[in-house]
Amino acid sequence: MIPRQRIGYASNDTAVVEALCRPVGIRQRPIVEFFFARSAPSRSLQSLNSDPQRMIDHLRQKWNARYADAEGPGEPAAVLAENLHLLPHGGAALDLACGLGANACLLARRGLETSAWDVSDVAIERLTERAEAQGVTVHVQVRDVAACPPEPASFDVIVVARFLERDLANAIMQALRPGGLLFYQTFVRDAVDPGIGPPDPTYRLAVNELLALFRPLQVIVYREEGTVGDTSRGFRNEAMYIGRKASGGSARGARPGHPVFDTRYWLYVPD
Ligand SMILES: C[S@@+](CC[C@H](N)C(=O)[O-])C[C@H]1O[C@@H](n2cnc3c(N)ncnc32)[C@H](O)[C@@H]1O
Repeated sequence: MIPRQRIGYASNDTAVVEALCRPVGIRQRPIVEFFFARSAPSRSLQSLNSDPQRMIDHLRQKWNARYADAEGPGEPAAVLAENLHLLPHGGAALDLACGLGANACLLARRGLETSAWDVSDVAIERLTERAEAQGVTVHVQVRDVAACPPEPASFDVIVVARFLERDLANAIMQALRPGGLLFYQTFVRDAVDPGIGPPDPTYRLAVNELLALFRPLQVIVYREEGTVGDTSRGFRNEAMYIGRKASGGSARGARPGHPVFDTRYWLYVPD
């Protein structure tokens, strides 16, 4: 039997439930069961899961090894590079799970007071050198963002590229200041080239998932082309999203000290 893993969150907001159910063609119920089939976790992974410190050490080693061999920082994410005109003239920005920090350096060059956090100390070291070489200041931290998410109302801009930790959606929205912008881009399951990005579909977005995860925000930009039309062109394999938190701090459901995204109900993806 294929083991099941809960992968998503839902809301008591029926529109959110509907948005997540529609792409997989299931009818909405008060509590929707949404399961995702995946292979059984190995024995070593099971033991890692039960020990958060070992889990994070394992993650750090994995990414450190990749970054030690990586040639350059790569290009900034399209969601940022193609929408620079939306950035505020000043304020605080965060590149969350920044890797080698191409996005962080771009934000800093645009005059934002930029922080960049990643669990990989090798990535942070290389980002520090890169920022120095470019003559920009980036406030770096080796930080497990799952365990230590950003503080509420601490950033005007948050960029998340190619990192998907659904549990953080609420903290990310809370971390935006009123009027703040979230730039998000990561891999989708409905990809033209599924070889690009993580092989485990758990770490890829379902259809329109960013819209559902960040529903309390105002959508400014959304692009997800899937496999529609001429697949040799366009923005493929990923989804991009820019959302804005209401200026008056009145994002739906938001009250000081309360989550803006209600995770009391679970969604499960069917086999
Ligand atoms: C695919 S890379 C993307 C890096 C960068 N955002 C980019 O687009 O180039 C994913 C990054 O997430 C980082 N990461 C994974 N889990 C993390 C965690 N719990 N806390 C902080 N960073 C994490 C990894 O170290 C890695 O740098």
